[in-house]
Amino acid sequence: MVAVKLSPRLKALAENISPGSVVADIGTDHALLPIYLVENDICKEVYACDIGDGPIDRARSFIRKKLGEESDKITLMKCNGLDGVPEHCDTIVIAGMGGELISDILSRGYGKRKAKLILQPMTSIEKLRRYLYENDFHIVDERIVKEMEHRYYSVIIAESGSQDYDRIDIYASKPLREKHDEVSLNFIEKIYRLQREKIRGMRTSRLTKEEELRYETAVFKDLESYLEDEKKI
Ligand SMILES: C[S@@+](CC[C@H](N)C(=O)[O-])C[C@H]1O[C@@H](n2cnc3c(N)ncnc32)[C@H](O)[C@@H]1O
Repeated sequence: MVAVKLSPRLKALAENISPGSVVADIGTDHALLPIYLVENDICKEVYACDIGDGPIDRARSFIRKKLGEESDKITLMKCNGLDGVPEHCDTIVIAGMGGELISDILSRGYGKRKAKLILQPMTSIEKLRRYLYENDFHIVDERIVKEMEHRYYSVIIAESGSQDYDRIDIYASKPLREKHDEVSLNFIEKIYRLQREKIRGMRTSRLTKEEELRYETAVFKDLESYLEDEKKI
């Protein structure tokens, strides 16, 4: 049987999973990540969770096909977010969804858990970072994965426990700013350019509130000064 091959984005999630951990993959779809973790002897107990009947059916047949007798190492769960996901899962992966949906899943279901979070938002990354900082989580790591020419994915590792944060951390977290590598700097530069466009748009709109423009300009200046220090602009 041909082993599952992960894309760089999914591989980056797997690289953050410690051997022997009990993982819940929320929004598993084809269960690619859980299958990879079992096939590679990284985990012996994985919960593959999804809200949709289609994904659950697809995952079931894919797990059987790929793992055969080892299929029982993966428990398939049809559930909304973390509803009913066992508390002993020490690692929770929520990937391939919007940042707002990820925040919503955490606010409804994380509760008093202590599990490590591996989050990969497709949109609204700033909203997700803000949610984490404001809701007693801290970002222990963040890395950018590039696929194809211009597709950047953020992988955020978070744990429970509060953290002080500055305005810039919402747009480029401290662990990300401290990477200093090309892909992280290119990603931050992209955020900086988008922020410049946003301000230009705000300046020409009659609906813009002065206070909001001041805040967004301050964010832009923060990003600019970071990129100047890094000699990126
Ligand atoms: C685009 S796929 C991502 C699959 C995989 N996690 C990845 O990163 O490639 C999103 C999956 O999340 C599931 N999903 C959406 N909302 C969900 C929720 N509230 N709870 C559980 N699964 C959800 C969808 O059914 C879909 O299978």
